[in-house]
Amino acid sequence: PGFIKEHNASLTGGNKWLRRYVGASYSNNESYVKGNAYTRVGMRGNFDFIVTKQIKISLNTSWTRGINKRVPAAWAGGIGDAMSNALPIYPVYNDDKTYFRNGTSNPVFRHQVKQKPASVFCLASGDTPRLAYQLFAEAVLKEEVDVSGCTFIGLDEWLGIPSDNEGSCASFFQRYLTAPLHLPAQQWLLFDAMATDARQQCTIMDEQIAAKGGIDLMLVGIGMNGHIGFNEPGSSIFSKTRLINLDNSTRISNSHEFQNITKVPRLALTMGISTILSAKRIALMAWGMKAPIVARSVEGQVTEQVPASILQQHNNCEFVVD
Ligand code: GLP
Repeated sequence: PGFIKEHNASLTGGNKWLRRYVGASYSNNESYVKGNAYTRVGMRGNFDFIVTKQIKISLNTSWTRGINKRVPAAWAGGIGDAMSNALPIYPVYNDDKTYFRNGTSNPVFRHQVKQKPASVFCLASGDTPRLAYQLFAEAVLKEEVDVSGCTFIGLDEWLGIPSDNEGSCASFFQRYLTAPLHLPAQQWLLFDAMATDARQQCTIMDEQIAAKGGIDLMLVGIGMNGHIGFNEPGSSIFSKTRLINLDNSTRISNSHEFQNITKVPRLALTMGISTILSAKRIALMAWGMKAPIVARSVEGQVTEQVPASILQQHNNCEFVVD
């Protein structure tokens, strides 16, 4: 449990010519997660000088400072994992005070590689699959699986964002798969988001996928508006890999990956719906607040307005949800 502490102190007073108020406040909201807290310190002063019956001069000043203390979420076993992957029936901490982590290496990945050592994976970036990749990388390092014959493909990319920018999908894969596994560049097919001819990038990608014999396992997430990859609502079931205009809601919900909303691109490159459907097997992962859009995708009508609902038409697709 966390405590909320509020402290306020003020002084008021004055005389015929001057009214004054000086106040200070301190608030500390602890989260139920150890190490997370929001602290705010503020000061305020109001002074009224009564010059004559008709003239009053007011001076108001205030100052506040908020300090958001957060445990970073971006590593395996971090608090983000504890919160997004542990159901409420699990403890937040292990006995040794490290964060609880539910799960072992994703059997879907391991099974795929064991069945076909030269598997072609197409992977989404984003918060949802992060832990799955980390666990998969751990399994590979423990030599439970050998991925040296596999090909990895990036599902989508922000246009104009270089691969060394932290917000890019390429840098996400670098952090969670390429670096830990020392994967050589030849094992990746990624969009070149800086290419002068973006459309040509899409054609090249589709040709390269075909040359590899198609995608064996497609792992996608889902946007709050039902998008898969960057296929926004309205994307045609026949759409190929292409350049797409992003919905503002997508830009807003991904703005945490960039400095601020103005830095989030308006265009992106994405596998098309038909490219996704051509995969031999598809897994969609979604947690928590995605529940309403997952329900629409699985139980609602198949409609291009909810791109993930089109996956109902695939004969080897599963939704992995909490
Ligand atoms: C972005 C990506 C998708 C991803 C989605 C959900 O829009 N283009 O590929 O599935 O975000 O991301 P998250 O898992 O972070 O919620």
